[in-house]
Amino acid sequence: MSDELAQPVLLFDSGVGGLSVLAALRQVLPEAPVIYAADNAGLPYGQKTEAEIAARVSGLLGRMTERLHPRLVCIACNTASTIALAAVRDVLEVPIVGTVPAIKPAAALTRSGVIGLLGTEATIRQGYVDRLEAEFAADKVLLRHAAPELVSAAETKLRGGVADPAAIADAVAALRAMPQGDRIDTVVLACTHFPLIADELGQAFGPGVRLVDGAQGIARRIAWLTRGQRFARREPDRALFTRDEAGLAELFPALSAAGIERYAVF
Ligand code: DGL
Repeated sequence: MSDELAQPVLLFDSGVGGLSVLAALRQVLPEAPVIYAADNAGLPYGQKTEAEIAARVSGLLGRMTERLHPRLVCIACNTASTIALAAVRDVLEVPIVGTVPAIKPAAALTRSGVIGLLGTEATIRQGYVDRLEAEFAADKVLLRHAAPELVSAAETKLRGGVADPAAIADAVAALRAMPQGDRIDTVVLACTHFPLIADELGQAFGPGVRLVDGAQGIARRIAWLTRGQRFARREPDRALFTRDEAGLAELFPALSAAGIERYAVF
């Protein structure tokens, strides 16, 4: 028997990054039942080709949607969204919300006119990002840097470890070293993993730099698309991983803090 009120919102990422989106979603829709899906077998997406990411994300979301019947799917991953959003929308009937690098809000906030953008290698080379830059930041300078080591730093932190200070310092130094990098006053965190280490990044950049991400906007979009719907959480929210791996249990405290109390391998 289908239970429409208990139909979940499916949040999907390659790893723990989508938890930054989940935190924002809890603020606006605390009652929404959530399934958090992490494709840890595919992590990191940032080092994969466009074809690999598109095939992997469409295939997985197709199977997950069939089995889990979500009311809405959120691709809580910039890499997957900037590459595969259109393809996923083509094949799935369910509403899909993607994650867009927050270039538009950053362009509205910057005073110096120089914006930094940190993302994965795959994200920063996307035409999707070029188009956002052309549309919203044509009169600004946008400096992009790929920081895959920050994905590992966030994964480590959420497992109870310390986000590698050298990785954080290197990412900040790389942006600062670009032409006009010393004038950056706003940094787009264009990977959902990075808000999880916002404190560390904020300290490394210093007080004159504002960090911007898209989590709140995504949460508002989900609330808008599900407006008028009712929610009931019949059982504790759960996380699905695509691979059982050593050390997965180290994530449980962070997941529990995010309101996820059950775990399974998909
Ligand atoms: N969380 C993903 C993003 O927003 C990236 C992590 C990865 O490289 O898999 O881009």
